[in-house]
Amino acid sequence: MTNLTVNGVSHTLAIDPSTPLLYALRNQLELNGAKFGCGLGQCGACTVLVDDQPVFGCLTPVAACAGRKVRTIESLGAQAKPGALQAAFIKHQAAQCGYCIAGMVMRAQALLEKNPHPTDAQIRTHMEPNLCRCGTHMRILGAIREVAQKTTPASQK
Ligand code: FES
Repeated sequence: MTNLTVNGVSHTLAIDPSTPLLYALRNQLELNGAKFGCGLGQCGACTVLVDDQPVFGCLTPVAACAGRKVRTIESLGAQAKPGALQAAFIKHQAAQCGYCIAGMVMRAQALLEKNPHPTDAQIRTHMEPNLCRCGTHMRILGAIREVAQKTTPASQK
């Protein structure tokens, strides 16, 4: 048994402790925002937050998350009421196929919670692990930049 707290809800899962967090989120908890891309820690499509830090869900065993705070894109808002970052991504039309976007938003969320007004260089460096195969990086950066220029940490949560 593995205990997981995801988006403020506690779960006890009867799964192998070495199961990747991404699989537990998608298959056991039906939180399908985070995506399986490479499975190798090279694309960031699976990015979620563990204790406020972005991690690759495909490489992180669920056992490593016991007693820690896991957050997924589902914690930030819904289509009818998007969070600040999600709204900026929509405004900037940052998604093309959209497969990478949940991971992008979660990685950006971690940065803005820690540093509400990052420089452009800090945004680029922080977002480097996450890839978009459609090539919308400039729009993604534009969306993050917009939120970084006008929000406070409290309004991003
Ligand atoms: Fe995890 Fe690509 S699926 S980094």
